[in-house]
Amino acid sequence: MSFEDVTNDSHRKRRYRFIFVGAVVLAIVIGLAVVLGVTVKNLKKPDSFKNVVIGKCETYLKENTNLSGYSDCETIWQVFEQAYVGRDPCDVPPEAYYPLINLVKNQLACNTMLFWSKTKTLVHEFTENRECLVTLEDTLLGFTFNELTWCSKNQSKETFTTDCPLWSYCVNNPVRSFWIKASANFAAIACGNVSTMLNGSLESPFSSTSIFGDVEVRNLDSTKVHSLTVLLVTKDTDMTTCENASFKDLQSALNPNITYNCREVPLTTVQGCISNLDIPCSDCFKKGSRRSGLVWNTAAKHSL
Ligand SMILES: *[C@@H]1O[C@H](CO)[C@@H](O)[C@H](O)[C@H]1NC(C)=O
Ligand SMILES: *[C@@H]1O[C@H](CO)[C@@H](O)[C@H](O)[C@H]1NC(C)=O
Ligand SMILES: *[C@@H]1O[C@H](CO)[C@@H](O)[C@H](O)[C@H]1NC(C)=O
Ligand SMILES: *[C@@H]1O[C@H](CO)[C@@H](O)[C@H](O)[C@H]1NC(C)=O
Ligand SMILES: *[C@@H]1O[C@H](CO)[C@@H](O)[C@H](O)[C@H]1NC(C)=O
Ligand SMILES: *[C@@H]1O[C@H](CO)[C@@H](O)[C@H](O)[C@H]1NC(C)=O
Repeated sequence: MSFEDVTNDSHRKRRYRFIFVGAVVLAIVIGLAVVLGVTVKNLKKPDSFKNVVIGKCETYLKENTNLSGYSDCETIWQVFEQAYVGRDPCDVPPEAYYPLINLVKNQLACNTMLFWSKTKTLVHEFTENRECLVTLEDTLLGFTFNELTWCSKNQSKETFTTDCPLWSYCVNNPVRSFWIKASANFAAIACGNVSTMLNGSLESPFSSTSIFGDVEVRNLDSTKVHSLTVLLVTKDTDMTTCENASFKDLQSALNPNITYNCREVPLTTVQGCISNLDIPCSDCFKKGSRRSGLVWNTAAKHSL
């Protein structure tokens, strides 16, 4: 009996010790998990977006020492963030980015600015391979924020990259307002003879509600810009030409002191210039001769 009691007693002690050690280990594990969880969360949420921004900014500066007038990516981040952090994601107007745009002065050569609409992939394949022309996305700010999404919330200190308003959900969303302000500035600093790459496969290549039509055309400064040339990229099968009525809208939106030109450029010529760097840039946007079938079609239409 007493023997039984003793064994029972030592068993019980051992069990208590076991439970105690177990509880301590559990407490440590939970503590570690909480600390790690919070750390990982902090690293992942606002910081990883900041790292992406600063990383892209530094990559750009390494590769384009000549194109940018500013080189402090940490300050760019801070001034950028001030435009939208703590604000409702539908209440960030383009003017919020004024300090950022003002901080980064581009030094672009006259005659090199290239605008675009609905030709995003082709135009960037071209400018990535050719240095004669420069789009907004080839400048420091355009490159850094291209393809990114960001927003904050009223009273928040954080940046979110998901659940942000889509482009057209509300007018004053952080991403759209950034591109409007950056585009307006890119157009306002343009000088000399500038061009725009438009899509000849579309029924109406010029849209007065696009960023190009609504923001860039209106911000060209006629005291600095001599001419605007439409480079209408066309495939053999395309029916749209420089005669398309949508270009009348472009001409009426354009300051009359800026000379308007339009040139149909074969897609194959532009593609050739992307793959064959021996072709001089001046040959890349020459006027194409329309296929005979198309000429006949047009002639037939006119004679009807
Ligand atoms: C930068 O500009 C200088 C002079 O303006 C020029 O000599 C140099 O080749 C340019 N560098 C690059 C990478 O374009
Ligand atoms: C023109 O627009 C069509 C339809 O959106 C698209 O498939 C095509 O790739 C565009 N062409 C160019 C040169 O970007
Ligand atoms: C932001 O929050 C404050 C206080 O909660 C509120 O007064 C204000 O109306 C909010 N603003 C927007 C744009 O929701
Ligand atoms: C723009 O083109 C016109 C006519 O071709 C030319 O006279 C003018 O010098 C050009 N401007 C610049 C800045 O190169
Ligand atoms: C030309 O422009 C008008 C309106 O701007 C459009 O309705 C028409 O379909 C366009 N395209 C062609 C191929 O005629
Ligand atoms: C066009 O140029 C003329 C002469 O320089 C100037 O008087 C006029 O105000 C300009 N028009 C516009 C719309 O900028």
